[in-house]
Amino acid sequence: ANGAHVPALVIGTGYGGSVAALRLAQAGVDVHMIEMGMAWDTPGSDGKIFCNTREPDYRSYWLRTRTKAPLNYFLGFPIDRDIPRYTGILDAEDFSGITVYQGRGVGGGSLVNGGMAVTPKRENFASVLPSVNADEMYATYYPRANAGLGVGTIDPAWFDSTACYQYSRVGRKHAQRSGFPFVFVPDVYDWDYMKQEAAGTVTKSALAGEILYGNNHGKKSLQRTYLAQARATGRVTISALHQVTSVAPAGGGRYTVVIDQLNTTGDTTTTKTVTADRVFFAAGSVGTSKLLVKLRATGALPALNGEVGKGWGDNGNVMCGRANHLWDPTGSLQSTIPCSGIDNWAAGGAFAEVAPLPTGIETWASFYLSITNNTHRAQFSWNASTGKVDLNWQLAWKQPSIDMAKTIFDKINAKEGTIYRTDLFGIYKIWGDHLTYHPLGGAVLNKATDNYGRLAGYPGLYVIDGALIPGNTTVNPFVTITALAERNIEKIIATDL
Ligand code: FDA
Repeated sequence: ANGAHVPALVIGTGYGGSVAALRLAQAGVDVHMIEMGMAWDTPGSDGKIFCNTREPDYRSYWLRTRTKAPLNYFLGFPIDRDIPRYTGILDAEDFSGITVYQGRGVGGGSLVNGGMAVTPKRENFASVLPSVNADEMYATYYPRANAGLGVGTIDPAWFDSTACYQYSRVGRKHAQRSGFPFVFVPDVYDWDYMKQEAAGTVTKSALAGEILYGNNHGKKSLQRTYLAQARATGRVTISALHQVTSVAPAGGGRYTVVIDQLNTTGDTTTTKTVTADRVFFAAGSVGTSKLLVKLRATGALPALNGEVGKGWGDNGNVMCGRANHLWDPTGSLQSTIPCSGIDNWAAGGAFAEVAPLPTGIETWASFYLSITNNTHRAQFSWNASTGKVDLNWQLAWKQPSIDMAKTIFDKINAKEGTIYRTDLFGIYKIWGDHLTYHPLGGAVLNKATDNYGRLAGYPGLYVIDGALIPGNTTVNPFVTITALAERNIEKIIATDL
């Protein structure tokens, strides 16, 4: 409520925010979480909370009047459609050189993502978080994160037999024939539930095209893991459709937090001011960076250091499809949950997920999201004339990612006598190089903050999300975001409270 005081305020309900809330509450601290997106706990008139990828409706996009699907063409035809403006679940946030996809709602990115839960290889960790003790991470915090998230791996025997992973088996065959290591990728989807979907005994979700705009069943999103546990402590409350716009010192070591309450068309209906002893920035890489850069420039937090806004990367994301021969169908039934990848990180700087194309019809296409070792880093800056935060990423900076992905797919195409698909991202366009699903950085650990996320210059202010990670994790990022948050909050609880 307006004028309230809270011991700990958490901005955002994604991975970093959920870990902070649970561990603070378990330590006896009352926590209030502020989330700009919706609660996603109430079914629409069709009886479902979330819509599927084939029929995107008002629930699909954050404040857009037309969908902006990551794969925006099919057989050369644009597939986007008009929708009513609504506080939907997926934000396709446009900057000058890149569109950054993010989840909006209680649970953050866990609501919309593929659930791929990958711990980086130990030998790559020093390149991910150079100032963090890797032994502690691999002995304690990665296992803790994997347990808290409910990570599991597909039953290999079922993988070999089920129709819904024909596309992955084609991916395996092609990878192995070209000499690339093929790996199973763990996921937070409930694999037993998926088996029952395939058997026709439960309501389908992964096998019904649900993913980008939410899964009605099967996926262990944060709502079902960390946030459920946090709520069960009785110490955590969440305000959905509330957006933090300012944080500033209030005297007495406290902070004043200004919050806009939104309606479902995105208008502000009320502005509230509360005070907090501690504020955790967990608005995601982009959300946290935008807030901090604005607050430094506009005088609310002028002592934030010059590293704030720097070190942003796209985790080297790039997408492409390959056209298979007619004797290599990938299947009309495709699970939306990817379960496998091709690892060419050491030799070629690319780790490619074998991704689904859950169109419901046979496409003879293999589709891949590659994570590559792209070293370009962009910076957020305050634009006083527009009153917005800009990001200086350039489209051409994806070229190294394309080159690294080609170390895998040029070789497979040569071996198989196949070609790239040119109809998935435009007309005669091979590479999906205009987007990322994996924004990272902007308030980098041990640079913008100390080595545990404490913001320089402001005792009681912390960053605890993907903004801490300097641009790349070598694999999908949320397990690392979660494990780092577990490490940092343990230290903060032990020494600051
Ligand atoms: P996250 O973005 O999760 O949470 C931030 C929250 O803060 C959001 O709910 C946001 O609405 C809220 N917020 C922002 N600004 C605010 C403000 N001013 N006031 C109040 N609230 C505010 N990763 C992976 O490891 N495996 C995978 O399979 C995938 N797949 C995938 C698919 C798609 C389509 C996307 C978009 C992303 C993925 N990811 C992924 C990425 C993964 O989801 C992402 O890295 C994490 O969600 C980031 O976690 P954070 O805690 O940093 O922020």
